[in-house]
Amino acid sequence: MKIRIDSQNARATFCGMRRLDQLLSSLGYCSRREARDWIDDGRVTIDGVVADDVAQKAMPAAVRVDGEPLDHPDGLLLMVHKPTGLVCSHDDREGANVYSLLPPRWQQRNPLVTSVGRLDKDTSGLLLLTDQSPLVHRLTSPKHKVPKVYRATVDRDLTPELVPLFASGTLLLAGEKSPCLPAEMRIVSPREAELTLTEGRFHQVRRMFSAQGVTVLTLHRHRFGNLELGDAPPGKWHELPLNYFNAPAES
Ligand code: URA
Repeated sequence: MKIRIDSQNARATFCGMRRLDQLLSSLGYCSRREARDWIDDGRVTIDGVVADDVAQKAMPAAVRVDGEPLDHPDGLLLMVHKPTGLVCSHDDREGANVYSLLPPRWQQRNPLVTSVGRLDKDTSGLLLLTDQSPLVHRLTSPKHKVPKVYRATVDRDLTPELVPLFASGTLLLAGEKSPCLPAEMRIVSPREAELTLTEGRFHQVRRMFSAQGVTVLTLHRHRFGNLELGDAPPGKWHELPLNYFNAPAES
């Protein structure tokens, strides 16, 4: 069997060139169908020359829409202060989501902007959002043991025995086959604790306490790896450089 190589396409892909309609729709500007109208209306230029064909390929940095450079053509990495009441799922049936905090164009991107792991609806705090799926896999992989620090308030006085139990690596949660990895707990006040986890099981903090008869009343994550949420107000996000987690300081 002969393999036909489309040399023009191969070169375009290799160089990071993209079809205009694909580029505009993937960055959330419009649908591929609408891109045709945008181009017919002369809204798109390549190196300053008005584009006249949706199938034309261009380097993202050379493209302008309505005279403006493209919106984050290389990708997005955001740190958000997730408020309680929002979910991390994209499924509308689960209720209002954290992505609704972002500009509409970013909500239309493909690949989707998604969360790096999840915080449950009733948990607030530091959440990363990105469209870089390798980064999501790297930061959520149990292999990398990225520390995540939570503050929990609970419904009864904490007993010091919880500290060695959580640190032991033997705590088995209902329905699970392997025990939780060792977690560091610091009792901050009789009904408040700080917990550092290096994994991210479903509702893990709530379930760890609940297994000991303690109900978590509020839960807030203030640290992810070496990133601190600081005093960012709930609902606010800010951008991080795409290579933030490549920096040598990050564990
Ligand atoms: N543990 C929980 O119980 N909920 C979260 O959102 C994160 C960790």
